[in-house]
Amino acid sequence: MDAHVNGSLVPVPDSPATSAAAHLRDGLGLTGTKVACGTGVCGACTVLVDGSPTVSCLLPADRLAGRTVTTVEGLGGEHPVQRAFAAHDGLQCGFCTPGFVVEASVFVDTWRAEHGDTRPGREEIADALAGHLCRCGAYEGIFAAVAAACEGGFDTEPDRDPPRVDALDKVTGRARYSGDQAPPGTWEGVVVRSVLPHARVRAVRTADPATPLIDLLPPDRTVRYVGQAIAAVAAPTPEQARAAAAAVTVDYDPRPAVAEVDAARAPGAPLVHPTRAERADA
Ligand code: FES
Ligand code: FES
Repeated sequence: MDAHVNGSLVPVPDSPATSAAAHLRDGLGLTGTKVACGTGVCGACTVLVDGSPTVSCLLPADRLAGRTVTTVEGLGGEHPVQRAFAAHDGLQCGFCTPGFVVEASVFVDTWRAEHGDTRPGREEIADALAGHLCRCGAYEGIFAAVAAACEGGFDTEPDRDPPRVDALDKVTGRARYSGDQAPPGTWEGVVVRSVLPHARVRAVRTADPATPLIDLLPPDRTVRYVGQAIAAVAAPTPEQARAAAAAVTVDYDPRPAVAEVDAARAPGAPLVHPTRAERADA
């Protein structure tokens, strides 16, 4: 099975076990597509599938067969919205930027086709990019960049240098992050996280004793929020690492927890840390 990716015919896996994002990054070396949440929430992994913005971390790679895929690299740095992001400093670390840029390229093209070179409202831009999170908070620059691209202000090269020296690398997907480096022999790590808001962890076990497991619990062996890191496992491939993490069993001793402000203020409410000293040690 094949897909057209950025203009080239490439093979795609015939199994749904690999995500489209993993195949693009690990199989094809297109590391401009970022994986941040891995759960379809943040938009960092957005690519175009037959022209539609799609989160690739949840899409099985075999679903790309016969489709046309465009990643941030496929925009070539020539799309007006890429120049606008750079000129308006719509980025900081740039990890969310490929996803924003890919989605915004469709919005800008559609807006200009329907409305001419006019400026969309802030609400229209927010609606279009609602599936994207920027943890650095570069939203003001992003709003300005998308509006300016819609107005036609970046159809040719801007006549000034972008305020951020690595902006062009980040808006084109050329920027290489530590997670994009995979020298031969690199293993993948996966963190096993708490599924309970408050519990003491009695034990953490791997199904295979040969699996390397690193304990990440604090000295009091207590988890205090859903998602707290409990342990990390590693394996030669992402699939093996995810399987190893799924095979970890955590023996919890659940403790009371509250999730509302009033309940947390009520007399006798469970304490996150009974004393300042214990909080400092955690
Ligand atoms: S990494 Fe795919 S949506 Fe966050
Ligand atoms: S620029 Fe850092 S997450 Fe958006």
